[in-house]
Amino acid sequence: MKKINVNTTTNNYNIIINNSFDLLQEHLIELGLSNKKICIITDDNVSELYLEEVYSIISKISDKVSYIIIPHGEVNKNLDTINNIYNKLLDNKFDRDSVLVALGGGVTGDMVGFACATYMRGIKFIQIPTTLLSQVDSSIGGKTGVDYKGYKNVIGAFYQPMLVYINTMTLQTLPKREFNAGMGEVIKHGLIADKNYFDFINTNINKINTLDNEVIQNLIAKSCIIKSEVVSQDEKEKGIRAILNFGHTVGHAVEKLLDFKLLHGECVAVGMIAAAYLSHITMQINIDELEEIKQCIKGFDLPTKIDKLDYVTIFNDLFYDKKTINDTLNFIILDGIGNCEIRSDLHKQDILSAIKYIL
Ligand SMILES: NC(=O)c1ccc[n+]([C@@H]2O[C@H](COP(=O)([O-])OP(=O)(O)OC[C@H]3O[C@@H](n4cnc5c(N)ncnc54)[C@H](O)[C@@H]3O)[C@@H](O)[C@H]2O)c1
Ligand SMILES: [Zn+2]
Repeated sequence: MKKINVNTTTNNYNIIINNSFDLLQEHLIELGLSNKKICIITDDNVSELYLEEVYSIISKISDKVSYIIIPHGEVNKNLDTINNIYNKLLDNKFDRDSVLVALGGGVTGDMVGFACATYMRGIKFIQIPTTLLSQVDSSIGGKTGVDYKGYKNVIGAFYQPMLVYINTMTLQTLPKREFNAGMGEVIKHGLIADKNYFDFINTNINKINTLDNEVIQNLIAKSCIIKSEVVSQDEKEKGIRAILNFGHTVGHAVEKLLDFKLLHGECVAVGMIAAAYLSHITMQINIDELEEIKQCIKGFDLPTKIDKLDYVTIFNDLFYDKKTINDTLNFIILDGIGNCEIRSDLHKQDILSAIKYIL
């Protein structure tokens, strides 16, 4: 078991990483949730796998436990699903003292978090993330929300949970492609913040791919620490939090231009290679380091190149990214593995070369 304390301006909470749900009950009791009205919200995939167990554990501390099953997938991350949740909460007289539990991936977590942030101006919120991406990324940092009119996450709020409980065994049922996509964000954490962590990932590729419990717990813990440290310094994304967008400038463009046919983490992988190449031509990493980064990404079957797109289209799309401020392109590039910097002075030619490198 590992416990990580996250301190934010609005809340102070723990992330528990364990290889079962066994410690969930005691943590809920510790938070004073005995006998509260609690609703578990999960999607129709995760409900088949984990709802029964989580429901039975929570029922031991309260006889007012209910659940809502929402349809899975990004297409359902919208205000219709949120309305559904609001309706059920109202029908069941949920009040400000009630608790919602998000059981599932980032789609469920982001929506339940948003419902909690807005219902009665804020009710208690617990995250039980079940995808690698949600365990190392989306459940940390307090960003919640839904997609609207084709724009991702444009309606939302910053809202922190009371607890994040991670059962690493849930990764056993996660499709491998989803797991690998989560590894895109994990590799990013090593690259931007910690060379030793990147080396740890690189030397443990096999153990990570076979879900070795000790290695996986260490990995999730380290990623949670890196993400929460960055976020704690900049909760509302005014400065340093931007480094978490390493690989995302090109990644987002590719994701959108390929009509979301690739998973987010897969696009981030390609985007990180473009950003690493850019770091190489600006002489901030050497060719061996660039190769090492590529090998690590390949170790998780993530793409290092894409086809079907041309470099001008990708370049033009970079300026539509919501992180572009006053038409200045902010690029996060590496300054050695484990360090990065935000740059707005890169030459167009270098950016174009970096895009060509992934085609
Ligand atoms: N809030 C943030 O800071 C933040 C950060 C990154 C991403 N996100 C958001 O996260 C979302 C993506 O999250 P995701 O990748 O977890 O996707 P997801 O929630 O759609 O889960 C992926 C798929 O796996 C299934 N699933 C979940 N857990 C499973 C398990 N243990 N076994 C088998 N199947 C399982 C789900 O039903 C779904 O079909 C996006 O909407 C993105 O915008 C948010
Ligand atoms: Zn991402």
